[in-house]
Amino acid sequence: MLPFEILARKRDGHCLSGDEIAAVVSGASDGSWSDAQLAAFLMAAAIHQLEPSETRQLTEGMLRSGEEWRLRDEVPNLCDKHSTGGVGDKVSLVLSPLVAACGLPVVMLTGRGLGHTGGTADKLEAIPGLTMDFDREHCLDMLHDNGVAIGVATAEIAPADKRLYAIRDQTGTVESLPLITASILSKKLATGASSLVLDVKTGSGAFIPDPVRAEQLATMMVAAANELGCHTSALLTDMSQPLGRWVGHAAEVLESLECLRGEGPDDLMGVVSALSVEVAALEGVDLSEEDLGEALTSGRAYEKFLRWARAQGADERWLEDPKLDLAPVEVDLLAPRSGYLQAVDTRTLGFSLVEAGGGRARPGAQIDMGVALRYDVRIGEPIEAGQALGRLYLRHPNDRLRDKVLSCFALGDDEVEPPALVQRRVGPTVPGA
Ligand code: URA
Repeated sequence: MLPFEILARKRDGHCLSGDEIAAVVSGASDGSWSDAQLAAFLMAAAIHQLEPSETRQLTEGMLRSGEEWRLRDEVPNLCDKHSTGGVGDKVSLVLSPLVAACGLPVVMLTGRGLGHTGGTADKLEAIPGLTMDFDREHCLDMLHDNGVAIGVATAEIAPADKRLYAIRDQTGTVESLPLITASILSKKLATGASSLVLDVKTGSGAFIPDPVRAEQLATMMVAAANELGCHTSALLTDMSQPLGRWVGHAAEVLESLECLRGEGPDDLMGVVSALSVEVAALEGVDLSEEDLGEALTSGRAYEKFLRWARAQGADERWLEDPKLDLAPVEVDLLAPRSGYLQAVDTRTLGFSLVEAGGGRARPGAQIDMGVALRYDVRIGEPIEAGQALGRLYLRHPNDRLRDKVLSCFALGDDEVEPPALVQRRVGPTVPGA
């Protein structure tokens, strides 16, 4: 079938066959479809949505367009976790060594910062010497030796996604849920982990703030991943305020180390625990809060992190004394009035840190790892006028930015309920998965 015939069928709202979807994917990877044709497909898919069968076939085609590592053939109980992204979301940094310390190996190919959110790969690069690039052999060695490997997708993984993503970015089709599903899973499933837990964020700092849409995304991803042979479930978790006490690359690495020493804040550790228990359950392993607590207090999880960092090139001096500097200009964020903290504009908080250099305002820009926000309050808490809501760590004084960040905190007279950390679970929908 010719590309324009396939495009006309999707334009008219038909469900494409497996062969038709395969033609789109090979057109993207071998260059036989032009950017204009791919853009037309993406726009038609965004407008008409994709049926579950089309989403699965697109995911599978994009996955098969590149290298697949099939690691579960060699590493039993291999787990993975993915977050749709948020502000202060350092869950992967804590969960990976923690779950590994409980006997389940973890592989993660993670992303860079996107928009107002930071990426795990960028955060970990705050560690001197550490590199996020490894190939299958190095990954296997690390999994056999220590049970942890966290890197970025190589150029050989899901090349069809690279082309399609670049076109989505220019055509207003990034937000389409089936396209997001195929894009994320085509890279995630390439390692061949046997179980995957998805942390789908909702609230003001999430990419998809609306809980109904977030649940739709979770449902699509869970269905497609299970059908493609990876035991997958999702937890919808709160991102209506930063997770934990710190936002910023170096600061989040330091906070993760605190968590691994058993000194993490309750909200962050609550999400880490829920996702850890969930991914273990997908492997048929009953992990209790006590097991997780023991892995932390014994120092095993902390040791796993340091051993992982060494395997990925961290400087010996840093490993002996894991400290990182924050930017030197400290700016207190003082509450302008008394009241309850009713809401936080977490997206603008994230963008404010990007503006201060603590994220990429344009592709390829250097990140200032020391820029940070300490977040001292929680939604629902009573606040006194003049109380510190948090503190910014900047390279230069910036009153305008301070005021912008302060305006993200909504204080009012009415009490509000603190948001639930874990809002719901979306389980496997495939019998036997
Ligand atoms: N991350 C991806 O890799 N793809 C998307 O479509 C959205 C987030």
